[in-house]
Amino acid sequence: MKIATASDHAGYDLKKGILSYLAERKIDFEDYGCGPDERVDYVDYAEKAIQNVCSGRHDRAILICGTGLGMAIVANKFKGIRATPCCDEYSAEMSRSHNDSNCLTLGGRVLPLDEALEIVRIWLETEFEGGRHLERIDKIHKVEEKNFRP
Ligand code: RB5
Repeated sequence: MKIATASDHAGYDLKKGILSYLAERKIDFEDYGCGPDERVDYVDYAEKAIQNVCSGRHDRAILICGTGLGMAIVANKFKGIRATPCCDEYSAEMSRSHNDSNCLTLGGRVLPLDEALEIVRIWLETEFEGGRHLERIDKIHKVEEKNFRP
């Protein structure tokens, strides 16, 4: 699995810890910024990372800002992206098993590193259940087809 990562300044420190975690486990990732000591807009970094998921270069994304909320709002503007802000382990599990989340968003100002890493682990390891949940994902695609205006 290939992961795109990105953060703004408020998510940078947490991102650093998550990148070390991914590297230690030999999980393939590419980071789209920001770097240390920058002040940036989360919008630009979410857009860059998610464009590279939509192009097929990466399978999923992990985006980190202060709360995880701004990153999720931007990511969910893209067709086919199901971005889920998660602050607890149960949500992380459900976001995969029921929602087939392909973008995890986290808040560097709301989560300590150890909790964030557990959320990342669960999100990476949990499979989508399919079945009735697949029917719901198909409905989401139909909502996109009907309502997304280029
Ligand atoms: C930056 O101050 C903060 O607004 C941003 O990181 C994020 O939390 C927005 O959703």
